[in-house]
Amino acid sequence: MAVAADVDAQRLPQHVAIIMDGNGRWAQCRGLPRTAGHRAGMETVRRVVRCADDWGIRVLTLFAFSTENWRRPVTEVAYLMRLPGEYLRSEMDELMARGIRIQMLGDRVGVPALTLRAVERGVVQTAANPGMVLNFAFNYGGRAELVRTVRSIAKEVKNGQLSPETIDEQTIADHLDTRGLPDPDLLIRTSGEQRLSNYLLWQLAYSELLFVPKFWPDFSEMDFEMAMREFQHRQRRFGGVSVSNNG
Ligand code: FPP
Repeated sequence: MAVAADVDAQRLPQHVAIIMDGNGRWAQCRGLPRTAGHRAGMETVRRVVRCADDWGIRVLTLFAFSTENWRRPVTEVAYLMRLPGEYLRSEMDELMARGIRIQMLGDRVGVPALTLRAVERGVVQTAANPGMVLNFAFNYGGRAELVRTVRSIAKEVKNGQLSPETIDEQTIADHLDTRGLPDPDLLIRTSGEQRLSNYLLWQLAYSELLFVPKFWPDFSEMDFEMAMREFQHRQRRFGGVSVSNNG
């Protein structure tokens, strides 16, 4: 789906982050197992990745598995662990053709070897691609990321590579999993829940938040377009007075 003629292509979010919520309820409404909801959710991932790329979004960050999701039944966790490999296998040709670069946010420790290998393969295969960055937040939690960040900064201080007085916001940003990427301009959460759920706690400080009352498997290209339009109507002030998305 291309950018609609009445949308200002110069005022689109550079980075869109999404909490893909509601797979379980989508399945439940249909009398299906929760895993069927995740499968349908993966189809939405395919659509939304193409759509975001068509819109010229520079970075798309999808919350695919949280550090809290380990509390789910083992069969559901096992199913979710298979999806990244399945997605990357089936989409790789298209990802390469589009020049999309895969990255992973989150703690690699604890992710089953097969899942990790599939993701790492995707990261390596697409590493030189010049296009949209597709970040999978997998075994990701915002607080855990901050703990890892503080540890790596502390290590550099201990080694004498960094002095405490020079630590500033940029130092922290440079040690996060998202280092090198702009912060999300827009966060979309589906399913009607209005929470951050430990997602990108540092990075979302000034993001516009959009809560869409639809389950993730039902999120369509049209909903993405509506999100872009809504973003253009938001006034972004970053604590000041004059920045806006609509002139
Ligand atoms: C939240 O819905 C969704 C998840 C925990 C998993 C999201 C995963 C996908 C959409 C598929 C991932 C695809 C790839 C390519 C990695 P929920 O299960 O919490 O829904 P509920 O709140 O209705 O129970």
